[in-house]
Amino acid sequence: MKVDPWNVSGDIDYEKLIKEFGTEKIDKKLLERIKKHTGELHYFLKRGIFFSHRDMNWVLDEYEKGSKFYLYTGRSPSGDMTLGHLIPLIFTKWLQDKFGAELLFQFPDEEKFLFKDNLTFKDTEHYLHENMLDVIALGFNPKKTKFLIDTKHATAMYKPACMIAKKITFSTAKAVFGFDNSNNLGQIFYTAMQSVPAMLPSYLKGKNIPCLIPYAIDQDPHFRITRDVLPKLGYYKPAAIHSVFLPPLTGPGGKMSASDKLSAIYLTDDEKTVKKKIMKYAFSGGKPSIEEHRKLGGNPDIDVSYQWLRFFEEDDGKLKKHYNDYKNGKLLTGELKQILIDKLNKMLKEHQIKRKKAESKINEFIYRA
Ligand code: TYM
Repeated sequence: MKVDPWNVSGDIDYEKLIKEFGTEKIDKKLLERIKKHTGELHYFLKRGIFFSHRDMNWVLDEYEKGSKFYLYTGRSPSGDMTLGHLIPLIFTKWLQDKFGAELLFQFPDEEKFLFKDNLTFKDTEHYLHENMLDVIALGFNPKKTKFLIDTKHATAMYKPACMIAKKITFSTAKAVFGFDNSNNLGQIFYTAMQSVPAMLPSYLKGKNIPCLIPYAIDQDPHFRITRDVLPKLGYYKPAAIHSVFLPPLTGPGGKMSASDKLSAIYLTDDEKTVKKKIMKYAFSGGKPSIEEHRKLGGNPDIDVSYQWLRFFEEDDGKLKKHYNDYKNGKLLTGELKQILIDKLNKMLKEHQIKRKKAESKINEFIYRA
């Protein structure tokens, strides 16, 4: 398995990642503690979709003392957004609503420009606009959410980025990201930019404010560096909460990635496209013939349609029924695919309506110093 901010592949063993990355598993005790404040648990927490964390207990200690945390997350505008990107965002919105938290949302529009050969700034400008519409459509509170765009807000970000960069040696960057002599200078510096929002409010206000960062576990190498550096500058280490990956359509392992068109469903895909992609490409846990399937049943644990329903079917009862019906052969692969198609098309239709209305709201969300 390979898991870093730019590559995810293979069969991902999340228990092993917890050990390798040195994070903590979200256990029952922590779930209870979160529930005390939120009243209910998001189904992502109940199902282990958010499975790991760093310093969640500390962030809750602070919260209980009256020191409220802000949220920080982001999206690198390098393509259209996929269902995979929704996972940390849906959860971040839930946290914002439940804790009344401010959210700093970074669009590092230079990141993929630096890391991809064929991506121009003209492209990133286009995707930035498109991605902002998707993020706004998810319903973040405009009064509490600010978009920080690296090239636009460089004046506010550059000094803190240099303070951070000064504390990171090239040898650390090589060890954490596997860089070598062929990496360009922008790539080496970039991690400093991704650290900035974890300290910017504290830097500007001149007092430490706790920060909680939700993301899928691939981004963790950046934040290991952030957590190492910020205390050296007198700031708190940010806390983090990590999700697993929505698997690719062609699964079962790995992650859905915007750059692998076969693996992904985009938030802008229409009904027909969604149906065609799932019917044609969704990895199936079914048996080769209907007779065999009816007799022996399918394997929902590797079936991508079922796996995706774990992420998008909120109703535990319905999900359990799909699991059992598929496992005992009552539900055929085509039928399970149709259940997923209906679910996604309903969700995407609503999203696309909100997305159209988002156009006029962009200005409200842009960070102002
Ligand atoms: P990016 O744009 O690749 O991805 C945005 C967010 O989506 C998560 N993600 C996924 N989650 C579940 N399943 C998937 N298949 C999947 N694919 C992507 C990513 O982990 C990420 O949380 N460098 C970052 C942008 C960034 C950022 C941040 C992300 C800047 N600051 C702070 C999180 C937190 C990037 O390229 O993400």
